[in-house]
Amino acid sequence: MSATTNTQARVTTTTLSDMKVAGDPIVMVTAYDTPSARLAGEAGVDAILVGDSLGMTVLGYDSTLPVTLDDMLRHTAAVVRGTSRALVIADMPFLTFQVSPKEAVRNAGRLLAEAGATAVKLEGGASIAPTVERMVAAGIPVMGHIGLTPQSVNVFGGFKVQGRETDSAIALVQDALALEAAGAFAVVLELVPAELAAIISEELSIPTIGIGAGAGCDGQVQVFHDLLGLGTFMPKHAKRYAAVGDAIRTAISSYAAEVRSGAFPAEEHLSHLDADVVGELETALPLTPGEDV
Ligand code: KIV
Repeated sequence: MSATTNTQARVTTTTLSDMKVAGDPIVMVTAYDTPSARLAGEAGVDAILVGDSLGMTVLGYDSTLPVTLDDMLRHTAAVVRGTSRALVIADMPFLTFQVSPKEAVRNAGRLLAEAGATAVKLEGGASIAPTVERMVAAGIPVMGHIGLTPQSVNVFGGFKVQGRETDSAIALVQDALALEAAGAFAVVLELVPAELAAIISEELSIPTIGIGAGAGCDGQVQVFHDLLGLGTFMPKHAKRYAAVGDAIRTAISSYAAEVRSGAFPAEEHLSHLDADVVGELETALPLTPGEDV
């Protein structure tokens, strides 16, 4: 799809399934605040994921585990305010959906009702499918997420490619099928070998969105900060399309240098008092607090 304006009808989950049928690649990017969502929307992305990766990209944690539902509510609402066309999907943070289907429905419902997301994403395969079914029955569109699921990093023992062996590859296909059967409208495949991701994408009638999973997926998702060179760590699966971090550092260094040299603020950044007001003010000085002049 070519870049579009941000004023067309909002993309829906049905739009994404139509795109899979038509063979149109789905473009998804993360965003965490109003200006980044506005820029992504203006660039014509189809979907914006308010990922719990915000824990690492903007909140300074070293994993997604400390991210709270309140964090997601605040950032999702900010993203929704910055978009008009892209489908906004809010990530469900650690322990907001694993404990019980009832809590999952309540927490996901808040992301839709209070923050304005259109859908939620949650991590997990067959074991979480009954929860997905309950959420979809409650009217909540759910995107699945399998492969390397960062909330389980401590179980995986690191950020490793998943599904390399026959057994684990079959388990991932079954996870994907279970999510589809439960009513998920799409599935993220993260750090999955390209051949396996292509097979899963063929097997499913719902779209797959890959990250580190190759071009055989129906769409791709990337983290905003990785695309733009804003992060400190660059994953192997990411491609940097701009050096925005360098541009920001250079700009702030120039500002600091101009403040220190006196070059900023210049005449065009000021307002002035009329000369008679300056005169009257000087006559009134010195003042004491509360003095009636
Ligand atoms: O939180 C996130 O940004 C994600 C994507 C990497 C898929 O889950």
